[in-house]
Amino acid sequence: MASPLKHEHEHDTLSGIKRRLRGAYDLDLNVSYSRLGSLFHPQLGTAVGDLTAAVKRLYGSTRLSLGTNGTTASNTLMVLSAAVEGESLIMDRHSHGSVYGALVLGGATPHYLPPRFDQDRGVPQVSLTSDVEQALATHPQARSVLITAPNYYGAQPDLPGIRKQVRAAGCWQLIDAAHGAHLRASPRLAPAIEEMQPDLMTTSLHKTLGALSQSSVLLGFGDNPELDARLQELIDTTPVISTSFSTVILASIEPALAEVQQTDRWERAVDLAADLRERLSYLPGCRVIDLAAQIGVAACDPLRVCLDVSATGLTGYTLADQLEAAGHITEMSTDRHVLLLLTSATSQAATDSFLATLTEIIQAANVKPHSTRTGLHPPDGLPSMVLTPRQAFLAARRAQRRVPVADAVGSVSAETLAAYPPGAPIVIAGERLRSDDLEYLRSVRRLGGVLKGSADLELNTVAIIDD
Ligand SMILES: Cc1ncc(COP(=O)(O)O)c(C=O)c1O
Repeated sequence: MASPLKHEHEHDTLSGIKRRLRGAYDLDLNVSYSRLGSLFHPQLGTAVGDLTAAVKRLYGSTRLSLGTNGTTASNTLMVLSAAVEGESLIMDRHSHGSVYGALVLGGATPHYLPPRFDQDRGVPQVSLTSDVEQALATHPQARSVLITAPNYYGAQPDLPGIRKQVRAAGCWQLIDAAHGAHLRASPRLAPAIEEMQPDLMTTSLHKTLGALSQSSVLLGFGDNPELDARLQELIDTTPVISTSFSTVILASIEPALAEVQQTDRWERAVDLAADLRERLSYLPGCRVIDLAAQIGVAACDPLRVCLDVSATGLTGYTLADQLEAAGHITEMSTDRHVLLLLTSATSQAATDSFLATLTEIIQAANVKPHSTRTGLHPPDGLPSMVLTPRQAFLAARRAQRRVPVADAVGSVSAETLAAYPPGAPIVIAGERLRSDDLEYLRSVRRLGGVLKGSADLELNTVAIIDD
């Protein structure tokens, strides 16, 4: 759900939820109702078919699969359509967990674009066009290239440049645009991802737009019968789309489509974000990160405001907790940042109230002039891949053992380990464990971050596969 900066606590109570849900039951149609139609084969003249056509018109796509299981499910379909066992794909290492899940399901071999980290700003960099070119030359057998754009911070790489490389190599271009459904609302936002006409693209309608959680679309562009056939086969045969899909979620898509067309509201949000940036820059110990100035960034969503709070002496995690206790939800926090998201629903009153609360918290932190704290950064390079994600999954099913972290270095990991948020994996199951990676993850945990993928949430031990 799009989250304005001010969070109302009313729906935290069960009775509040029941009151709010009363109308949902009227929308929750039985899927056997014939005029509803089907997500598997949407036909014009049915509710699902007409909604599918409306979303296709808005985004200009030639193929579209509506989903009520999130972009988690849409990404699964996208990756499985593009590559399975015996095939390979080039992909951002900073990909969402659902992409890695699809590699486990399908068995494709991933070739990772080199992950780069901007140490000054403390954020991951986008993939460079030259990295894509190099990867295509090194892995001529790869059939597709998967990029996440915009990334969590709203940054986009040079997508037209990447597309040129991908097309020249005869590969399919896939884009996870979970955070970019709103971009076509105004030229004052960043370029709309669908304008790049990727072969397949996914986006969440609930992240930056106001549709209900788990509303998502998988879009296809151009004439691509082979990819279309692969996708339809998956839709028909795999349990990725629930046969009892949610009509309540589908009903929430229509107002979200209208929201995209309210250019004036989005432009007001762009102005609010610019004003917020300006006012945040005067707070002691706070630095507004200029993501557009990062190497490789071609465009950046102005509605994401990334604030480096390391010089306040607080971690982003602590600050986000304190903000939440005061009723303000941040989009994400790291050891060093809080990331704020504005939407077409954000009001001046919300940004004013947010700023007043933040100012109080910073004042209480008693920032010393010129105090700084360097943030954590993931280790350079990548661990070596011994087994593909699917091979590792199957090997771990047969035999794995937990060992203390100090004894695990050099062994093959049975677990995919990530720091959440944003959840991009540091070690993928099947990769050889490096001490720097384990130390980084433990440091994230020590500072208050959450680890994902390990059965031991403190990461004192790790599961390994004997090789
Ligand atoms: C880049 C990216 N892709 C996919 C997803 C999954 O989307 P959903 O929450 O709609 O399942 C997320 C969720 O945060 C994400 O950040």
